[in-house]
Amino acid sequence: MKSILVTGGAGFIGSHLVRVLVNKYPNYNIINLDKLTYAGNLENLRDVEEKENYTFVKGDICDFQLLESLYTKYSIDGVIHLAAESHVDRSIKDPFAFAQTNVMGTLYLLQAAKNYWGANGKEGFQGKLFYHVSTDEVYGSLELDNTFFTEQTTYDPHSPYSASKASSDHFVRAYSDTFGLPIIISNCSNNYGSYQFPEKLIPLFINNIKNNKPLPVYGKGENVRDWLFVDDHVRAIDLIFHKGRKGETYNIGGFNEWKNIDLIKILIKTADKQLGRAPGTSDSLITYVTDRAGHDLRYAIDSSKLHNELGWSPSLQFEEGIEKTVKWYLENEEWLKRVTSGEYKKYYTEMYHNR
Ligand code: NAD
Ligand code: TYD
Repeated sequence: MKSILVTGGAGFIGSHLVRVLVNKYPNYNIINLDKLTYAGNLENLRDVEEKENYTFVKGDICDFQLLESLYTKYSIDGVIHLAAESHVDRSIKDPFAFAQTNVMGTLYLLQAAKNYWGANGKEGFQGKLFYHVSTDEVYGSLELDNTFFTEQTTYDPHSPYSASKASSDHFVRAYSDTFGLPIIISNCSNNYGSYQFPEKLIPLFINNIKNNKPLPVYGKGENVRDWLFVDDHVRAIDLIFHKGRKGETYNIGGFNEWKNIDLIKILIKTADKQLGRAPGTSDSLITYVTDRAGHDLRYAIDSSKLHNELGWSPSLQFEEGIEKTVKWYLENEEWLKRVTSGEYKKYYTEMYHNR
């Protein structure tokens, strides 16, 4: 029996990962540590909460005593670390929360892993792995050309979010170089799919189209993102966790670049069709608003290393992924209603009022 500590497992990507791990590996004990911030939601995991090989722990990755007790209590063999503050716009409003969770939280987790696995010397690191889930945003921004981020691209983060993730990546590598901690890092492009908190572009816009609310396009809508269906990211994490080379970094991306405004037009077309509205009904909801401060122009990932070494490729065509995603949000009105009540309403008013 292996014990795997997943952090942030009640969030968007984490909940998809936990579901796969719990169902695919009945011989693993999956411990999900999550603080349940506004972005974490246990409803995302209803279908696995009764499984024998699954344990949920509500807690903060910055609580060092809790971490030490968890490593010992569950004899943790591996960590897959996703817990983070993850939204760029929030990082502009409150950078300190990002430094605390993303940098300090990662450092506490690393230190607790080193202490527990290394208690009787470096042999204790054998067969163990600290897997850090990171983002392509650490590499900065590309021009509108045909260049890509590779694993060799120099870090150049611009937002407090990407700066905090870059810093956490550096700490993970430092623990490998200094203490010999077995680590892997992956840097992935923008994910989309079910259970994503509706502050991010795709779920926010689907929800607004449904409710006939303005679609706030930052700047001219010309920024480019490389979109990957969340199940493909989870498949990559599973593969890298089991087959990746220790100490390595793997880029994960869909070779699927979209200018925001073109993506928004596809979303409108798909949602109008599924809502039984005439084509073009929701076009007039597009509203150009003040650009995000320091808005990165373009992200594009070269994931050939992952493809060549481990045989991973994205499985889904984008249009198919968008169809599925729109359908899920339209069918899961109750989930959307619940996660967008309370604190979210205040955030939305502050973020978009007078923008
Ligand atoms: P999310 O915001 O949906 O979920 C984050 C989860 O972490 C939530 O469940 C939250 O409750 C939990 N959390 C936050 N602070 C915590 C703390 N101090 N202690 C314990 N738990 C805490 O994020 P996501 O989109 O699922 O992203 C997961 C990871 O993947 C992040 O590390 C993010 O940087 C990375 N990533 C995300 C994307 C993307 O497009 N969403 C792309 C590449 C990488
Ligand atoms: P987002 O989903 O926040 O992801 P990230 O900033 O991490 O890439 O945003 C995706 C793109 O959509 C980004 O270029 C910003 C833009 N955007 C808007 O134009 N309007 C919005 O209301 C939001 C949330 C994002």
